Amino acid sequence: MNQTVEKAKKRLNQLVHYEKVDNTIYFKGTKEIVELKVLSDEIIRVRLAPRGFFLDDFSYAIENSNFDITSLETEESDDAICVKTASLNCYIEKETMQLRIEDKSGLVINEDEKGVHWEENSDHGGNYVYCSKRIQDDECFYGLGDKPSDLNLRGKRYSNWGSDTYGYQKDRDPLYRNIPFYLGLHHGVGYGILFDNTFKSYFDFGKEDPDVASFWADGGELCYYFIHGPQLLEVVQKYSDLTGRHKLPPQWALGYHQCRWSYYPESTVKDLAHNFRVKKIPCDAIYLDIDYMDGYRCFTWNKDHFPDPKRMISELKEDGFKTVVIIDPGIKVDDNYWVYIEGLENGHFCQRGDGPLMEGSVWPGKCNFPDFTNPEVREWWGKLFEEFVEIGVDGVWNDMNEPAVFGIETFPDDVRHDFDGHPCTHRKAHNIYGMQMVRSTYEGLLKLQKTKRPFAITRSGYAGVQRYSAVWTGDNVATWEHLQIANVQCQRLSISGISFVGSDIGGFTQDSNGELFARWIQLGVFSPLFRTHSAGDTMDQEPWSYGEECEDIVRKFINLRYQLLPYIYTTFWQCSIHGMPMLRPLVFIEQNHKETHHRQDEFCFGDHLLVCPVSEPGVKGRKLYLPEGGWYYYFSDKYYQGGEEIWIDTPIDEMPLFTKSGSVIPHFPVMQYVGEKVVETLTLHVYYKNGEEISHLYEDHGDNFAYEQGICSVKSFSLLGDENSLHLIQYTHGDFIPSYHDVELIFHGIKADKISISQDGKTSKKVTKQKDNTFSIKAIRDFESINIDFE
Ligand code: GLC
Repeated sequence: MNQTVEKAKKRLNQLVHYEKVDNTIYFKGTKEIVELKVLSDEIIRVRLAPRGFFLDDFSYAIENSNFDITSLETEESDDAICVKTASLNCYIEKETMQLRIEDKSGLVINEDEKGVHWEENSDHGGNYVYCSKRIQDDECFYGLGDKPSDLNLRGKRYSNWGSDTYGYQKDRDPLYRNIPFYLGLHHGVGYGILFDNTFKSYFDFGKEDPDVASFWADGGELCYYFIHGPQLLEVVQKYSDLTGRHKLPPQWALGYHQCRWSYYPESTVKDLAHNFRVKKIPCDAIYLDIDYMDGYRCFTWNKDHFPDPKRMISELKEDGFKTVVIIDPGIKVDDNYWVYIEGLENGHFCQRGDGPLMEGSVWPGKCNFPDFTNPEVREWWGKLFEEFVEIGVDGVWNDMNEPAVFGIETFPDDVRHDFDGHPCTHRKAHNIYGMQMVRSTYEGLLKLQKTKRPFAITRSGYAGVQRYSAVWTGDNVATWEHLQIANVQCQRLSISGISFVGSDIGGFTQDSNGELFARWIQLGVFSPLFRTHSAGDTMDQEPWSYGEECEDIVRKFINLRYQLLPYIYTTFWQCSIHGMPMLRPLVFIEQNHKETHHRQDEFCFGDHLLVCPVSEPGVKGRKLYLPEGGWYYYFSDKYYQGGEEIWIDTPIDEMPLFTKSGSVIPHFPVMQYVGEKVVETLTLHVYYKNGEEISHLYEDHGDNFAYEQGICSVKSFSLLGDENSLHLIQYTHGDFIPSYHDVELIFHGIKADKISISQDGKTSKKVTKQKDNTFSIKAIRDFESINIDFE
């Protein structure tokens, strides 16, 4: 920052007076007020009113801010006022009104450098608003959504301004999403900061000054939420308490999805579907990109290519395929087009500052754009999906919603928005436009589909977008570097509250190749959204496009995804109900180990699987770090003791995938699509541990909301092993009754050749080891205990 700018910045002065009203404490200077609102023992909101007036308390990010507070006191000393919650001491210095937050052991978790400050924005009016914090010893930073750079953000600067970034490269900033939330970690303690400001915002993690982390925005209010962990996982959970979670998706949405720009006409779609079934490669969803439309007019069909979409969709459905269609925000200016006429007549389109409609070119040519920040517009838009729902469309893909406009990138600043009754310019609404679009799509589908769970996917979004939609990482490139970027982006989005994420498998732009595609599929199995997508000017990118060897590997891994579905669905449930990120970087597993702070290739998918994709060509193995504890290599059951870096041989038909010792991993039989078969026996893979471990299995109908009325079942498995025996206890809660009556238990990692097993205390029987070194037994679904003695 140059000197003149620095001088113009205004800082807080001495505290003149403070006042506590319920759980809010106002700290007043001569004019300015800092508001500190205690939302829970661990969540504090800080707001600044430079001239003593706060804006309306309105946020698109926040879903819930009513939490329990155990205790709240203020204490005054000579130098400071201390606001004490059950977990935190927040000191406001009297001399400077700066904030320092400590935990109960006296460790400084977060402290102001200059703290909140501001500067008049002479171009637009209002203020630039800033907050700067001191970087603590060895502090690391994570989060911020989809940044395509290293996981740890220390030493970097980023901005949030949703942008259409076709074929982006490493470190390109900003990309499509605007997630102003980051996590800090130092001295083993994690915390988070959500800077709830929709203007263009910036984050600097010690780039400008190695000792200072700061965030600021081009306008609006300085408003941020401090979230104390101390575990990083807890920070994300609390962040999602605030900003919301995705409800459970329809189970088919966790299957494999095939997409391309574009599959048309109908015969191409049918051939595609047929090939999946003939080649026995599971697939649940086929996407229709923009060419299904009539001249790219949203909510229309090109009848030359798709003469009877209802028939086609129902035939696909009979074969187990769901149809997902793309819908963009640009509505073609065309007097003979009903959506345009309705939008125009009802004033649903965005206007420029001085009156005319916002007009810009996208796929259909000249377009107007709905103002999704207006609740009436959202209502209208939601109803436009009526015909789609009626003809059986199962999911909607919202694209280009940064919003992207050809030639001028996005809307000019002067475009007006309703902002849910707080009229403003595009400067304030840009970063939430995409989120409000997919919100309106999701809410419309929810109403129209009634009891059926909606599925939506979006490119742009703001904090909280996870309530409505899955996301994909945008227009990536078919390179090895991009495979690595995709891995980090998915992890980063997951710890930024957006777990339902995936990349365009194989790469969107440029031609891929068999090895790259196979390795990318391996990452995709462990991406919550498992979708292949590619641009129309690239070579075909279906599982069989790269020859038989590749096809076999891809089939093997898509099969694995379908086998793991009950585990993946359970992991989604943990995210949906408890806010646990589905993808957990190593630093989230062992935040006290410095070794993990900079690692980014390895991650845990849920509680018990560790994944480390191969993202280099021609290699037959790789190094990786295994967290403490015992781990079994998935493809051989070879046991490794964690806590160090290891080398693993992984030919192209395997990948570095490890199961945590003690875990119980449920498997479905391979199916060609979710629900193809009635599961008659569930397989439980049990991995021996000398010690204790808990695993879960969540089940419900998979497509409706009965689970919200308790029609679901949660099974917990408690495993306890020692040198001579293994005990497995099962607890079941809930009213859902699964289709299977029996389970098959497969025990891995037991050294003995023979074991004797007793179920629910009944007489024991002897079981001999199988060729693959496992022991297999059948049990009734609701067994209470299995006891095994090694012989
Ligand atoms: C954008 C999307 C891409 C899509 C294309 C055509 O580039 O990011 O996924 O295929 O538009 O709709």
